[in-house]
Amino acid sequence: MKLPSGRVIASAPGKIILAGEHFVVHGSYAVAAAIDRRVRVSISKTPGHESEIVSNKHRSLVFSDDNRFSAVKSVLRSAIDQYGKPRWNFKVEIHSEIPPNSGLGSSAATSVATSAAIASFLGKNLSTDDVLKLAAQGERSVHGNPSGIDTEASLLGGIFLFSKKSGAKPIPINRALQFLVVFSGKARSTLDLISKVNQTRERFPASFDNLLQTASFLSLEVADAVSDGDLPYLGSLMNLAQLSLSWIGVSTGDLDELIEMILVGDVFGAKITGAGGGGSVIALPKPEKAESLLQQILARYKSSFITSIPQEGLRWEN
Ligand code: PMV
Repeated sequence: MKLPSGRVIASAPGKIILAGEHFVVHGSYAVAAAIDRRVRVSISKTPGHESEIVSNKHRSLVFSDDNRFSAVKSVLRSAIDQYGKPRWNFKVEIHSEIPPNSGLGSSAATSVATSAAIASFLGKNLSTDDVLKLAAQGERSVHGNPSGIDTEASLLGGIFLFSKKSGAKPIPINRALQFLVVFSGKARSTLDLISKVNQTRERFPASFDNLLQTASFLSLEVADAVSDGDLPYLGSLMNLAQLSLSWIGVSTGDLDELIEMILVGDVFGAKITGAGGGGSVIALPKPEKAESLLQQILARYKSSFITSIPQEGLRWEN
């Protein structure tokens, strides 16, 4: 096995979902886009006695059973199972610009960047499909049975239509798009919310199946609205998507209030992004009003930001 030349650094973006979250787990289409916030993962040899993982807040050992960095550990362990244990110990350093459990794909970005970095550290040059497969191990350890949309966004960047059956199809953008992202401050577990939606499906199968078809319809319309640059229509589709999310039980009183507050401003539409139950809300502001809207929201929600749609997904940093 080739000795790594030194430090390997990879980074990958988080994501927002414009339509179809949750329903995508049950087979519908959805639309996701990368955001201007990334997770950077660096792996280097260490003279220490054990391989370790560190972030600015936590530290754990790769082969310890505490529940810190569970996605990272499962990616590292599967890479070692597949490609062999290195003859040297290593240190994984994680620097994230994305709050954990905020609906912005921090675990997927971490899993994708870790997959590429550990493979390269072990002397393997993985295909994008292999990176996705390895990253899926990390996602499964935190989300149970994810659709795969988050890891695709972190890998590919840009904006795309996605279904479990047909994978990701990039959507061409003909007009710069900017979204306001507001983290509610409430972290939550995607796994719990997915199981809550499963219960709704079991209780009301016919209504759920109708909403499943609606999610696909909305996602296809969102893809057209994005490529046509039709912001008013895109915003109205986001509002419709929010109604379905609310019906399946993943909105909360606080999120509804936050969305109402945003909708009073100069926006075309607003909705939860990701699993809900807390997490984040996105809005499509009128382009000339985006900055002033952000300033208003920042007064109450300190980690809000405006994102464009970066075209770059996974990348090497060295
Ligand atoms: O909130 P997040 O970033 O975990 O978003 C997950 C999106 C879901 O559709 C709820 C789950 C999935 O795997 O697609």
